[in-house]
Amino acid sequence: MIDYLMMTCLTQTPAWRALIAHRDAMTDVSIRDLFARDAGRAARFSLEAAGLFVDFSKHPITEETRDRLVALAQATEVEVRRDAMFAGERINRTENRPVLHVALRDRSGKPRWVDGTDVTTQVAAVLDKMRRFSNAVREGAWRGHTGLPITDIVNIGIGGSDLGPNMVCEALKPYAHERLSMHFVSNVDGADIAEVLNRVEPETTLFVVSSKTFTTRETLVNARTARAWLLASGAAESAVEKHFVAVSTHADAVAAFGIDPANMFEFWDWVGGRYSLWSAIGLPIALMAGMDAFEALLGGAYAMDRHFAEAPLACNLPVLLALIGIWHQNFRGTTSQLIAPYDNRLHRLPAYLQQLDMESNGKPVTLDGQRVGYATGPVIWGEPGTNGQHAFFQLLHQGTATIPADMIVCMRPHHRHAEHHDILVANCFAQSEALMNGWCNADAPHRNFDGNRPTTTICLDTLDPASLGALIALYEHKVFVQGVVWGINSFDQWGVEFGKRLAVVIEAQLAAPDAEQSHDGSTNQLIDRYKARRRRLTHVSTR
Ligand code: F6P
Repeated sequence: MIDYLMMTCLTQTPAWRALIAHRDAMTDVSIRDLFARDAGRAARFSLEAAGLFVDFSKHPITEETRDRLVALAQATEVEVRRDAMFAGERINRTENRPVLHVALRDRSGKPRWVDGTDVTTQVAAVLDKMRRFSNAVREGAWRGHTGLPITDIVNIGIGGSDLGPNMVCEALKPYAHERLSMHFVSNVDGADIAEVLNRVEPETTLFVVSSKTFTTRETLVNARTARAWLLASGAAESAVEKHFVAVSTHADAVAAFGIDPANMFEFWDWVGGRYSLWSAIGLPIALMAGMDAFEALLGGAYAMDRHFAEAPLACNLPVLLALIGIWHQNFRGTTSQLIAPYDNRLHRLPAYLQQLDMESNGKPVTLDGQRVGYATGPVIWGEPGTNGQHAFFQLLHQGTATIPADMIVCMRPHHRHAEHHDILVANCFAQSEALMNGWCNADAPHRNFDGNRPTTTICLDTLDPASLGALIALYEHKVFVQGVVWGINSFDQWGVEFGKRLAVVIEAQLAAPDAEQSHDGSTNQLIDRYKARRRRLTHVSTR
């Protein structure tokens, strides 16, 4: 059992102080110089595991940097805490829960006990139910209330109950069932569901209502609208069971909503929302790409789990990705991290990683309740290349801030347009080279590029379920390691809960004509303006 109260202030540790001194000694060392001095640098700062090849060499780091960062990881007990997570200890202390998304993709079949229950058996049973159901929908055996096969699947969920399955379904489109179209509704903005309902037919649409808690306002409002739309088409109440299934940890709330618990796919409170795509929350993936593809995704993540659990820290992909991030964030003063997938099918990856990283590590206090005296989670952002090059890469090359970038690229595309792929890959490699080398033009300062801008290049052979699983698990464990080094709880999200509470208060005030409002002047003014004007504005669309 870990004793969290034993933690000393991170910035006072010898490992941290040694990194400060090392950073000062490295101030004038450029990445370009490091390559000029060392022909074997690229190979020595690259690693391959679980089907991913990662080149870390274009960072301002030496072997001494790596060793000192690894010493920091050791001093903060990364290995002990990693093992505690895999062992199912209650490392999510503010919610008193284990953190066991790794159990969802453990292909070893070994029993794993949580509160006297073997979760391996529970997980296998739900996977089996997902297989039977997804096969039935894909084969056309599961039909809508008029006997027609399902053609459209609408996932209704938000945050972790949307971003993961949405991102993976986009990434794995080449594996999609030809009859099934996938749609994702997350926003409570009526425009989101209106657009989807305009594209689908009640008789052939299956709604998957995904919510860990089954209390999330956005999801329940959207699900109610979807049910009303089905009934308004003339379907009887009995049709609901053919068109609605749920994914949740709360059978009672699912039943109260009106979905038969027999049509519910269960998961458990030891699965964090943003770590849940491996659970039944991944049902849309299984429906779209088939259960074999979903299990291959789990297999890729499991391969990364084994690597993370077993490889020494100095040659451990998630550990190095995390430590290099800490090097930039805490010792070189960066505040954001770009995710640049050179793969259009990964266009939802930056949004997915925003929740994974920022909801996990956007935290101000340590596990023992002390305010942190150092930066924690960076801002995560991004867009696919080459589009990003024609938008924000100017700032990467010549802006005053240094922004580390992860470039993600596949060796083989799924399409036949080989020339396009060569151009795409050439751009990816050219950008990381240009960002590192810069260009000196003393006569024209506006054409001077300082260079020394760091990038990590992550290579997949092809964007298939297994390599995607490994990629996602790589980032999950990176976030975990950073949280451990910073001494924070990466598995709660009290900031989000706070915002939710305030919205409920204002929602009630918008509904009541004479509600008393005791907000600040600005918020009161905005509420008054909205109430006075909302019904006066005309709709431009009747849909
Ligand atoms: O955004 C906050 C959050 O609590 C996330 O952590 C979670 O993924 C999301 O809301 C959705 O929650 P639920 O699955 O319970 O509807």
